[in-house]
Amino acid sequence: MSSKRLKSLQLALAKQRLDALLIRTFEGDNQNVLYLSGFSGTTAVLVVTRKKAFIVTDARYFLRAGKEAPDFQLVKVQRGKKVSDHVNEALAMAKLTKSAKVGFEAAHIPVAVAKVWSKEIKAKLTASLNVVEQFRQYKDAGEIKLLREACRITCRVYDEVVPLVKAGVTENEIAFEIDMRLRKHGAVGNSFPSIVASGPNSAMPHHATGDRKLKAGEPVIMDFGGIFRGGYCSDITRTVFVPGKEPHPRMKEIYKIVLDANKAARKALKPGVTWRQFDKVARDYIGERGYAEYFTHGLGHSLGLVAHDPYDYEHCPFDVGTVVTDEPGIYIDGFGGVRIEDDLVVTTNGAERLTTAPYLKF
Ligand code: GLY
Ligand code: MN
Ligand code: MN
Repeated sequence: MSSKRLKSLQLALAKQRLDALLIRTFEGDNQNVLYLSGFSGTTAVLVVTRKKAFIVTDARYFLRAGKEAPDFQLVKVQRGKKVSDHVNEALAMAKLTKSAKVGFEAAHIPVAVAKVWSKEIKAKLTASLNVVEQFRQYKDAGEIKLLREACRITCRVYDEVVPLVKAGVTENEIAFEIDMRLRKHGAVGNSFPSIVASGPNSAMPHHATGDRKLKAGEPVIMDFGGIFRGGYCSDITRTVFVPGKEPHPRMKEIYKIVLDANKAARKALKPGVTWRQFDKVARDYIGERGYAEYFTHGLGHSLGLVAHDPYDYEHCPFDVGTVVTDEPGIYIDGFGGVRIEDDLVVTTNGAERLTTAPYLKF
């Protein structure tokens, strides 16, 4: 799997007239390393030349890098030496000289590190953008399988948590139940901090989950996801109402509008549709019902190795393998809000819903 990706990158290097590309992850901040090599640790530099590929990492990861990244030659960072010394070692092994043009990922390297690298690395360093990200936009069959499984488990967690939503329980307690179950069923972490927004807090699309106690009849937005096998993320939102009292009639109306907007957008999704057109379907639906000003964020985003996966939204329409969230919402300050979010994969003639957790019926 990763060797195919590596070959695509090596071809892209030639097209961009780069002799090599440096791809660094530090504290796990760059999923391009995982995507290309399979290495899932927190610290490494990949040195990819047109013909060779190296992984520079430290002793915490020697064994793991050997196992996880078999297509990459391991360069061991020695204690007391700099990572850049070992990058130079890799460049020398690839017979690249000082005049070689070596890219670094401008989106992932702080200016301070770029300054140090430009002094220490024996090559002509040049800032590059989106060289790896362009491949991550469209998921292959293996990735879709992992995302489908991630979403299946996430929906199971939702099913388990719904009965725990009761008057008197706090947002934090619900979030804890979600997080604990994600881990129990296989997640290695959260794709973002779980959002549990109750009552008036549900008017904030990204409320900071707190110790507010749920009250009967009010809405609760639960937005959460896990990082699962292979590093793939899920991202689901469901809105429920706390049992014990009938929800406000306007809340029920809002729920139906948001759900129908979600479904309308999903039905419109197929290869060739632009992100703007997709967004417009839900926005028009909500707008025609008088709630335009209350749908305050975009309809969705690309999903993959991070919850907000890289995508050139302006220039790249949907195609087979785009994985996208569909998450319309209506938020009314002082009253409350509803969001319903699904993860969808674009197919040859439409879209498959990966998050099959049930909606409410009124
Ligand atoms: N929870 C982040 C999002 O849905 O985009
Ligand atoms: Mn979400
Ligand atoms: Mn989302």
